Amino acid sequence: MDMQTLVDDIAAYAGAAAPAGTVADYIPGLSRVDPDRFGIAVAMNSGEVYTAGDADIPFSIQSISKLFTLALALDEDGDRLWTRVHREPSGTPFNSLVQLETEAGIPRNPFINAGALVVTDHLLDTAGDVRMRLLNLLRTESGNSEISVDPAVFASERETGHRNAALTHFLASMGNLRGSVLEVLETYFWQCSLEMSCRDLALAGGFLARGGVGADGGAVLAPRQVKRINAIMLTCGMYDAAGDFAYRVGLPAKSGVGGGILAVIPGRCTIAVWGPRLDRSGNSAAGIAALDEFTSRTGWSIF
Ligand code: DON
Repeated sequence: MDMQTLVDDIAAYAGAAAPAGTVADYIPGLSRVDPDRFGIAVAMNSGEVYTAGDADIPFSIQSISKLFTLALALDEDGDRLWTRVHREPSGTPFNSLVQLETEAGIPRNPFINAGALVVTDHLLDTAGDVRMRLLNLLRTESGNSEISVDPAVFASERETGHRNAALTHFLASMGNLRGSVLEVLETYFWQCSLEMSCRDLALAGGFLARGGVGADGGAVLAPRQVKRINAIMLTCGMYDAAGDFAYRVGLPAKSGVGGGILAVIPGRCTIAVWGPRLDRSGNSAAGIAALDEFTSRTGWSIF
């Protein structure tokens, strides 16, 4: 199979297959994007990168950042995080408040907003300069030293993040927050506002397809932690649509409301797709169609 032909085909197909869906506008800064952009990048473990469409245009990574903060937290503090956050699918929307109250302030998993806020708090407590560590990881692994935050999206998240503020205060009231509500929120909004392209994301996530080995051949993360992150991506990475995504695509993946999805084929490659129109669960409609097509045509799912 010729991978370049495949990604070209998929870029043409995904644009046409998923004109439905709407761009996230609950964070006003996100609504300025052209809804009909589509990009795809496939980064092979052997080093080649295949791209098509808008693969080099930076977009807001939003919840895909939760994947990288989880990797940093597991690297820093091993398994101690798991006393503060569960690892079960939530079955509720990513910003839901309901479960947190009924489950005594322990979020269902690190990929819903409540869980990611706990991960960021945990990192601030154990690793110090979270922003610098996250930027270093993303820039080193992607090879793009320009990766940074979109200030307009950052400002917009800070102005409108009432649900996240409610979640963080609730975590504090249940004794599951170590730092200050304000610092955790600011750091979380900052990480969500990072801008990366499909190429950047596919490369930055490469260690998840290489058993933890980074771009320079050194270890980013222990293989046992990589196995765990991939498992949590499979069960929780697409929020309340994780089951349907596993059925259709069959890969560990993490989405963001900026329209990006990063998927991993352990031992083979990573795939980043971007299409800003979202389905009802907040996942990229064109991105899911593209990944469905990719695994159907290659036969490369984990099942
Ligand atoms: O906190 C929020 O709501 C956004 N900054 C991130 C949400 C997100 O990307 C969920 N993804 N599907």
